[in-house]
Amino acid sequence: MDADDKIAVGLEGVYVAKSSICKVDGINGKLYYRGYAIEDIAKNSSFEEVCYLLLNGKLPKLAEFEEFKKALYAERDLPEEIVGIISELVGKASPMDILRTAFSALSGFDEKLNDNTEQANMEKSLKIISRISSISAAIGRLESKAQYVKPDKSLSHSQNFLYMLNGKKPEQEKADLLDLMMMLHAEHSSNASTFSTLVTGSTLADIYAAVTSGISTLKGPLHGGADEAALKMMDAIGSPENTERYIDEALAGKQRIMGFGHRVYKTYDPRAKIIRGHLIEIQEHADGKVKNLTGIALAAEKMMVEKLGETKGIWPNVDFFSGPIYAYLGVPGNLFTPLFAASRAPGWCAHMIEYWRNNKLFRPLEYYEGEIDKQYLSIDKR
Ligand code: SDX
Repeated sequence: MDADDKIAVGLEGVYVAKSSICKVDGINGKLYYRGYAIEDIAKNSSFEEVCYLLLNGKLPKLAEFEEFKKALYAERDLPEEIVGIISELVGKASPMDILRTAFSALSGFDEKLNDNTEQANMEKSLKIISRISSISAAIGRLESKAQYVKPDKSLSHSQNFLYMLNGKKPEQEKADLLDLMMMLHAEHSSNASTFSTLVTGSTLADIYAAVTSGISTLKGPLHGGADEAALKMMDAIGSPENTERYIDEALAGKQRIMGFGHRVYKTYDPRAKIIRGHLIEIQEHADGKVKNLTGIALAAEKMMVEKLGETKGIWPNVDFFSGPIYAYLGVPGNLFTPLFAASRAPGWCAHMIEYWRNNKLFRPLEYYEGEIDKQYLSIDKR
């Protein structure tokens, strides 16, 4: 066999672990969190309950859920040094770079950092889920030149994000919509950022180091950065009437249309379907900007599905319709991916804890195609 036969580029089609956290059925467009269909989760659950489900493998009883939420809410506060790091970096670094930096510094404030027992990692997971959200909201707040707003422990997770971002308690309809978006982004099996988290943790580095890898990986426009890139594309298109020309030119120029295509889904991403449905609903009563974005998104979807859906298996993914929804919620475009990170935190932590139960260092091979035993010449002879 030659090199190309041995190498699975991008690990396409390669299984790297067993897991009971999430099933992604790319052929039938189905997604399950711990066995529950995403449609049922979206209709009946909450982000906090999804965090409990992903971490513990079952839905909580009432008393378990109340205790879990209390512990989660208690961890929202940020050390003033972390707020200081964010304040220093806003305007100088991108929100994802600030999140990666501020989150990484959080490890210095966790006395259980190097306690790698499952109990300690569960406790650290709650801190991580709470504080990535607080950091992301604080970045958005300080970027808008407003004063930092401390978390409010009487609010739900999603209410608190919008409260820390905008400095006022959100309308329940908007908090509920954000909660739905966070549920839909909470987990997705062995995606690039979760795999990156596992690779780091497989060396027995701590869970903060592992999640810092996940945040770094999520930033790229081929992964978590696609939501912001898709919105930028919609802004560049400008109007539904201009969509066809823009997409035609982009495809002719071999550009990728952000928010479309997926390594696993070769049909419509079930999360995109749910988000699309809510976008159609809200644009009825939203402002002109969201209405226009929705018109552009629907025109782009129609065109891409006709051109590349059936023929190349390139369909809308979770990132495509998210932008107009976040715009409606008042989330700035450059905060979409930090919000994605805040949503994916339970998925990263659940996978890391599960993988550590049967840990094995990730160390793949490269197929070496260079020379060997070359003669070393001193510099005056080269
Ligand atoms: C997420 O993995 C996960 O689960 C991720 C995620 C999660 O919840 O964690 O679901 C979240 O990251 C969703 C994906 C967000 N990214 C984007 O929307 C970026 C645009 N999409 C692509 O770049 C692409 O579809 C990927 C990266 C997502 C997947 O690409 P693959 O599987 O590596 O396939 P490929 O890049 O080799 O593309 C195969 C062909 C190529 O054409 P040919 O060279 O064969 O002619 O399809 C084309 C590509 O050019 N193609 C696209 C396209 N995506 C693929 N062409 C135009 N627009 C696109 N969006």
